[in-house]
Amino acid sequence: MARELTQLELLQELEPVAEDNVNRHIKTAKNWNPHDYVPWDEGRNFAELGGVDYDPEQSQLDEVAKAAMITNLLTEDNLPSYHRVIADNFSMDSAWGDWVGRWTAEENRHGIVMRDYLVVTRGVDPVALEEARMIHMTNGYDPMLAAAGRADELEAHADELGILHSVAYVTFQELATRVSHRNTGKACNDPIADRMLQRIAADENLHMIFYRNICGAGMDISPDQTLRAVTDIVTNFQMPGAGMPNFRRHGVLMAKHGIYDLRQHLEEVIMPVLRKWNVFDRTDFGPEGEKTREELAAFLEQLGKDATRFEEMRDRALAREAAKAAKQAQAS
Ligand SMILES: [Fe+2]
Ligand SMILES: [Fe+2]
Repeated sequence: MARELTQLELLQELEPVAEDNVNRHIKTAKNWNPHDYVPWDEGRNFAELGGVDYDPEQSQLDEVAKAAMITNLLTEDNLPSYHRVIADNFSMDSAWGDWVGRWTAEENRHGIVMRDYLVVTRGVDPVALEEARMIHMTNGYDPMLAAAGRADELEAHADELGILHSVAYVTFQELATRVSHRNTGKACNDPIADRMLQRIAADENLHMIFYRNICGAGMDISPDQTLRAVTDIVTNFQMPGAGMPNFRRHGVLMAKHGIYDLRQHLEEVIMPVLRKWNVFDRTDFGPEGEKTREELAAFLEQLGKDATRFEEMRDRALAREAAKAAKQAQAS
């Protein structure tokens, strides 16, 4: 069996790939300004400055759009947790350090613009939003450990959970946030919000490509080891933002209304990336890698079944709600 590479060896071997991809990213990324995406003339003071405080009637967003906006913004707000994972597992030297800085600065824009939009348009309660941000950020979150399902075994596996797990995690996470932002934009029913979230989603896509290329190069350099990390992440993946206040309730609403559901997770996030890495057709896995691939395939098959079951339940629930609404309309 091929020897597993150490974290240091992986960083060294993958450094030229990181350098090429930082350069490609800088050439491709668009510089944009958050203030250009916010309808400032809709804004007015809150009570503290002689105006009026938030009232739910002021919001143009329905419950689904609100839940999605809050979830997506809190995820962006929690950038320090994500930065910590990336900074801890990447080197801060050379191209690795350049990427960590650049990516962090770009991510920060997302939280800035979404918060400005929501406060100016009074889309959500700014006090509740701030309370949720405080809770979520104070708790912190180690997305990688949680996603790798090994939070309880940190000591035993600390040296296995390194760069490969982190790049695998962020590859899927960036793509998941891309899907979620895009669909939230549509759900807001406001062309300004849609444009803003399209802009953010385009950034997330470029971030995903960076991490996907690094992880893909890892798959070529050390196939069995990389597939193990990918499989750990895929089989334990939690939606970005797990653990934030109301996450379950908001997650259910988002899944029920097609902002982010199991089918999208499987077909728009997991499968395109696995196909890009050619996971199911490659011939360079050793016996361990072959075993891991079978484990991954079985998991994906089950995920497909779970997605179908969820869709059936959702269709029935939505039909019941529609029938109830029709009955109420008739009665009134
Ligand atoms: Fe982001
Ligand atoms: Fe991103």
